[in-house]
Amino acid sequence: MTTYRGNPEAIRALVQPDRVHRDLYINQELFDLEQEHFFANTWNYVGHDSQLPKPGDYISNEIGGRPLIVVRHTDGSVRVMMNRCAHKGSRLVSAPCGNTGKFFRCPYHAWTFKTDGSLLSIPLKNGYEGTQLTQCESSKGLTQVKHVRLYRGFIFVKLNDTGPDFEEFFGDSLSSIDNMADRSPEGELEIAGGCLRFMHQCNWKMFIENLNDTMHPMVAHESSAGTAKTMWSGKPADEPKPMAIEQFVPFMSDYKFFEDMGVRVFDNGHSFSGVHYSIHSKYSAIPEYDAAMQAKYGPERTQQILGLARHNTVYYPNLTIKGAIQSIRVVKPIAVDKTLVESWTFRLKGAPPELLHRTTMYNRLINSPFSVVGHDDLQAYRGIQAGLHAGGNEWVSLHRNFDAAELGQKDVTAVGTSEISMRNQYRAWERHMTANMVEKAEA
Ligand code: FES
Ligand SMILES: [Fe+2]
Repeated sequence: MTTYRGNPEAIRALVQPDRVHRDLYINQELFDLEQEHFFANTWNYVGHDSQLPKPGDYISNEIGGRPLIVVRHTDGSVRVMMNRCAHKGSRLVSAPCGNTGKFFRCPYHAWTFKTDGSLLSIPLKNGYEGTQLTQCESSKGLTQVKHVRLYRGFIFVKLNDTGPDFEEFFGDSLSSIDNMADRSPEGELEIAGGCLRFMHQCNWKMFIENLNDTMHPMVAHESSAGTAKTMWSGKPADEPKPMAIEQFVPFMSDYKFFEDMGVRVFDNGHSFSGVHYSIHSKYSAIPEYDAAMQAKYGPERTQQILGLARHNTVYYPNLTIKGAIQSIRVVKPIAVDKTLVESWTFRLKGAPPELLHRTTMYNRLINSPFSVVGHDDLQAYRGIQAGLHAGGNEWVSLHRNFDAAELGQKDVTAVGTSEISMRNQYRAWERHMTANMVEKAEA
């Protein structure tokens, strides 16, 4: 069996221009190396500004196996630091979110830290007189994450110094976040409602790949969306569709619909489907909302904003958004064959409540653990996770619409049914995975 640690060449060999090796999904050592290198070298989403309205509000999170605290400091800024006490290493907070007041207090020996991470106090401090404590890291407080960037309220971090800066990393893919926020008559988003957590028994990359896989809906979702379509067939064209029917039925569109929809890929693994239109394009108008948008932006700009109805945008590697329905999904790799998918819904500030109702309905129907559509996808991922252990063929085909001219391109628009988004992800994967990996010296 190939050893990948200290062997960047072997890792690069797993990604060919039009296919990838099965070890990407099933090899434990690669999973560990991803945690160590890949996720630390890339920009990852850790939360939204609206989750931290007051000083002391925090979110705990984890990227690449490192526990993090994202907190609103007393000066109003958002700080991100390691969730690791400077004394003996205890996690400082264990709740997913909360308010810590003016300081964090370690639950083990009560060292306290300000919300900028600096050390505030130590019980019985005179016990440290004459020791080296002040000369070492432990007296400096919590370890700060240096690379933190807020974009329209979305908070991203990069743990390592390696790799591109934020703008270079995401490039024009940021237009999907812009469009999602511009859909608010106030230009701002706010997380609303709780988070739906859906455990997937598969490698995280299968989920991310599937977001722009448009060759599966009419097959994998036939039993769920197909049933909704059958139920509605024969109704007069002018009969108003219930919201659930309106959301289910487009998944059963034909190949031509998805082909003509278009997909666009960007450097570093990002992509979106729905260049020209999407499954969200035909949702019924909400007159009050249109009026609020027109009042804010005027008719032309409103038409521009609402005319962009992109389907999934993948902010590679851990954030996927559906701007047109104001819902996001965040992936949290747990093990080589286990991934937690978190679904969050957003309120468009200044929009009528029907918009949020549509968002939460979509999230329940399509993205939640009790969704019928989401289970179709999960069943497919579980099938792959099991099937890849078969011998005989060690490669996963990503040949659909491959064109050698796409190699080295940083922005490509292709037919919607192309597998270019997946090829693009793996090209980014091998680059960021091996960026600072040092070849093990020959023994
Ligand atoms: S481990 Fe935190 S105070 Fe001791
Ligand atoms: Fe699907």
